[in-house]
Amino acid sequence: MSAAHSGGAPGSLLVTGIGELLTNDPDLGTLTDAAILLDRGTVAWIGPASRAPAADRALDAGGAAVIPGFVDSHAHLVFAGDRSVEFAARMAGAHYTGGGIRTTVAATRAASSSALRARTEKLVREALAQGTTTIEIKSGYGLTVEDEVRALRIAGEFTAETTFLGAHVVPSDVDGDEYTALVCGAMMAAAAPHARWVDVFCETGAFTPEQSEAVLRAGVAHGLGARIHANQLGPGPGVRLAVELGAASADHCTHLGDDDVDALSTSDTVATLLPGAEFSTRSPYPDGRRLLDAGVSVALATDCNPGSSFTTSMPFCVALAVRECGLTPTEAVVAATRGGAKALRRGDVGHLGVGARADLVVLDAPSHLYLAYRPGVPLVGTVVHNGEIAWK
Ligand code: NIG
Ligand code: FE
Repeated sequence: MSAAHSGGAPGSLLVTGIGELLTNDPDLGTLTDAAILLDRGTVAWIGPASRAPAADRALDAGGAAVIPGFVDSHAHLVFAGDRSVEFAARMAGAHYTGGGIRTTVAATRAASSSALRARTEKLVREALAQGTTTIEIKSGYGLTVEDEVRALRIAGEFTAETTFLGAHVVPSDVDGDEYTALVCGAMMAAAAPHARWVDVFCETGAFTPEQSEAVLRAGVAHGLGARIHANQLGPGPGVRLAVELGAASADHCTHLGDDDVDALSTSDTVATLLPGAEFSTRSPYPDGRRLLDAGVSVALATDCNPGSSFTTSMPFCVALAVRECGLTPTEAVVAATRGGAKALRRGDVGHLGVGARADLVVLDAPSHLYLAYRPGVPLVGTVVHNGEIAWK
């Protein structure tokens, strides 16, 4: 994330006075009375506070808990417009169909690049202030070659985790197969140099299984990794398609059959839960407990977008995952950090071991359990990104 302002101060930073250090590192586990030395953007040393080495600067955690920076592996941040009235209508009983995506497409196409950039930057900063130090950003509200490339270029100014989602919805008055051919052809060729991932909304009313498979295969042929919006609004073949194609992540996973869970459990595909979407569409939540009990790798992300989940708050999603998806408080924090890293196939973030990227959050709380225990309370004290204090 490059909206993070680095402090600019040179040299190493020692975080001392850590009451609880959740490392997500299998060898280190959770430490008490710990210190962590950050040097040149990475973790250089971790151990008991009493044996901490000297450093150029110190940050006293004052006995609070420290966790790895959140990894938000699913966000749609490049958009214009407002859909608060659509949200209010849903809270009064209307159903979410994904059709509102076209409202945002019209507003996004009409917006200037500087307006889109400013909106994206504001959301990235908002996420950072809530502890997010790695964020994935999708296109998907342009749906023309030019508008999708523009969205990806803007996304790339803020993150390396850019995702081409030209197959978000079929634009009005266009045939689905014709549009899919465009996405797989000219749009993919123009978008792929600006993207790391390809994504598709595989759902009734969006893209069929055949169209979805074509989009993901075209992306992979262009060197992109695959991820998918699957089984959000109803049961379907999206999750199995993800597993078959070796996608890094199947996202939403709200309506799953036993065969979907079995397929995920024997695969490398992460199930990414997006409970902000169920919150904002008043829908049943995904059963995270069932997935974890089956041995599936689970990630937690915001799905921040103007339609189905307009939140950048990973702490909010942690609290929802605990209360509504059956995760324990620790499982939810791990899913929001190490889980997100796995969903993005990143070994350098989501944990705090020697050599990891120096991204961490000093909580205004004695334990990571507080993130779910005190929902809605701003518990992010200090955010360190790339070894520098990025938000306080
Ligand atoms: O992940 N499901 C598709 N895309 C988004 C919703 C986008 C919108 O409604 O604008 C999602 O929920
Ligand atoms: Fe999404």
